[in-house]
Amino acid sequence: MSTINKVCVIGAGVMGAGIAAHIANAGHQVLLMDIVPEGATDRNVVAKGAIAKLIKSNPAALTSKRNAKLITPLNIDDDLAQIADCDWIIEAIVERLDIKQSLYAKIDAVRKSGAIISSNTSTIPLNALINGMSDAFAQDFCITHFFNPPRYMRLLEVVKGEKTRQSAIDTVSEFCDYKLGKSIVDCKDSPGFIANRLGVYWIYVALVEAMDAGLSIEEADAILSKPCGIPKTGVFGLMDLVGLDLMPNILDSMVSLLPESDAFVQIRRELPLLEKMIADGYTGRKGKGGFYRINRSDGKKVKEAISLVTGEYHPVAKARLPEARSHFKKFSELLDTDSKGGNYAWRVMSKTLAYAASLIPEAGEDITAIDEAMRLGYNWKLGPFELIDKLGSQAFVDKLVKDGESIPTLLSTAAGRDFYTETNGVPQYLGRDGEYKALERAAGIVMLCDIKRNSQPILRNGSAALWDIGDGVVCFEFTSKMNSLDANTMALIQKSITQVKKNYKALVIYNDSSHFSAGANLGLAMFAANIAAWPEVAKLVSEGQKAYKALKYSPFPVVSAPAGMALGGGCEILLHSDAVQAHIETYTGLVEVGVGLVPGWGGCKEMLARWQSNPKHPRGPMPGVGKAFELISTAAVSKSAEDAKSNLVMRPTDGITMNRYRLLADAKQKALSLVEGYEVPAEPTFNLPGQSARAALEMAVDGFARAGKATKHDRVVSMAVADILTGGPKADPTVEQSEDDILTLERKAFMKIIRHPDSLDRCEHILLTGKPLRN
Ligand code: NAI
Repeated sequence: MSTINKVCVIGAGVMGAGIAAHIANAGHQVLLMDIVPEGATDRNVVAKGAIAKLIKSNPAALTSKRNAKLITPLNIDDDLAQIADCDWIIEAIVERLDIKQSLYAKIDAVRKSGAIISSNTSTIPLNALINGMSDAFAQDFCITHFFNPPRYMRLLEVVKGEKTRQSAIDTVSEFCDYKLGKSIVDCKDSPGFIANRLGVYWIYVALVEAMDAGLSIEEADAILSKPCGIPKTGVFGLMDLVGLDLMPNILDSMVSLLPESDAFVQIRRELPLLEKMIADGYTGRKGKGGFYRINRSDGKKVKEAISLVTGEYHPVAKARLPEARSHFKKFSELLDTDSKGGNYAWRVMSKTLAYAASLIPEAGEDITAIDEAMRLGYNWKLGPFELIDKLGSQAFVDKLVKDGESIPTLLSTAAGRDFYTETNGVPQYLGRDGEYKALERAAGIVMLCDIKRNSQPILRNGSAALWDIGDGVVCFEFTSKMNSLDANTMALIQKSITQVKKNYKALVIYNDSSHFSAGANLGLAMFAANIAAWPEVAKLVSEGQKAYKALKYSPFPVVSAPAGMALGGGCEILLHSDAVQAHIETYTGLVEVGVGLVPGWGGCKEMLARWQSNPKHPRGPMPGVGKAFELISTAAVSKSAEDAKSNLVMRPTDGITMNRYRLLADAKQKALSLVEGYEVPAEPTFNLPGQSARAALEMAVDGFARAGKATKHDRVVSMAVADILTGGPKADPTVEQSEDDILTLERKAFMKIIRHPDSLDRCEHILLTGKPLRN
């Protein structure tokens, strides 16, 4: 298979710029071209402007601002010849067939033979795009449909044309899987492909049904969110996010391409409210607001919702429907409840699930494609067919029949069976032919859930488990709520070390959850603090220190593999590992000060050790102390794994995995690569600057406090951190301190600060509200 080295993206709008940014995030050079606006003095002004916007974008399109340098801004009038050495050319220009086709002709004249061209079109069929182009062009052409924002949305729909060579699809798919971290869903060349066809239908049904049933948008969103395993934005919040103005365009395009009998065309109707909102600039979050808006009059910020009946805004009202509080576990009960909320959930979800079943094989080859598209394109917890399994396919069909709805062929084929099953530990899905087929993961993907399905843990307690993942490697899994860490976790770490020493080669710390760990279990710590069980708290701190130190000095490699949040104690796990293999979307840092505490499981010690030995940092004790202090006292959290390297939570030699599904396999590989010749790390020593440095840090904190950037208690907690990092009251820069000396300082500072009433208020506040208290 040929490989992709150089890429060109044409069209530097929302999508083109975002795609270029993500290719740069993967470490690749990318050309970004757009038109030359009339009268422009700088002919690359559009692409340059797009890069400037990328650097400032929020959520950030770049995993590190440095990556912007990999994007070269150009224009199609002067620079098109530069695509001659590109292996892949991505077209992401306006959604107009004539303009796209005229660009293809120009590209074809200069591209090298075999260079792949793909379009990011959302709605134009592939056959229409290549109409009039040569066979050679058609063979190298496909659709790669990224979702917005390209860095964060893991779904990539790929459409192969009749003439597209398979090797082109394989090359692009491999690049997008490994380098861009995308989950590839192969789609047919049908209108809207999968995610938009089904997703926009779902949104439209939700809108129309809410109007017909007289639900408020708050009620509709409360039902079509958590109770259905759908993100809390619901459906109206989602429309605000993507932009109301996109809706009519996609709808028109879809309706023009689909037959009259399609459910999409059937449900379409005039929506004067939507038209008026768009005309008035209420296009969603990018406009003046949408179904929801923030009213800033009278110097106050009030969140308001629109009435679907009157079109007037009112302050958001909490949905009073009891079903709004229903748990996703009770999804099938919800859809069976004969009430305003239950009926609404049934009407919207049943139509959507039935439509999903009707899209096979027209839009996707099998149910797995549709489920993955909805999970990753719309962040549904479960895909449509997994949801039907929750209802029971026969019960679902019976109820559809009662409603007078027609039954899609696939549902008849299922004949009451589950869409997903398991035989001898092998997960299977129901094929179109009515036969079960093995559910195979793409080559090289290892998921812990697959291992767990087929084996028993080596060790387990209430907070963690240890699994054999083959080749002499074991995986330590956090299993508590939010993967928080407690005495059980520490006990199992110690037991696991004994096991690995006896029977295995290496240890990986990993879990399949979206977040590696939220840190120490604050609820337990608060409980102990509230009953003044201080010896218990002290024990938790010292047991944690011992467990983390044992991990660090174990006679085998330990590799942590975080994804999502790895905060506080979770970050300290990374700091005590021999290596980290992180998913690119890793947000890690020592955030303890946010809850009025200090890192007490060796986090201060490790950050000090790293910053003091950083070859890029000026020598001497103070610079290392200053940087560690800055990061810990501001509770700095990395915005990506690359950023974690800048903060030295990760080392330059640590690995980054772009595809979340490949993280465990990569971490295992990393661990195995460290086995031969493994040496236990040497214990660092510390020459810490003592009281003069403490005074300097105090002055800095006072400065922040005066500037209004630090609160009263920020000051107190920061100085507790300073007490540790500067080496304690007796520190002398000429006298070496050991790791244990610093750990003692951590324990003392921790036990003092946790008794402070303002710290307890911070802990309690975060537990109750999930938000930090700035006291
Ligand atoms: P956009 O309007 O933000 O950007 C389009 C860019 O194309 C503009 O910078 C424009 O100057 C440029 N352009 C127009 N004609 C050109 C030409 N002849 N040569 C070079 N550049 C030209 O549009 P957006 O949203 O980025 O959409 C681009 C494509 O991606 C469309 O096909 C759209 O359907 C698709 N798409 C959009 C998504 C979204 O959420 N916005 C999601 C997925 C796909």
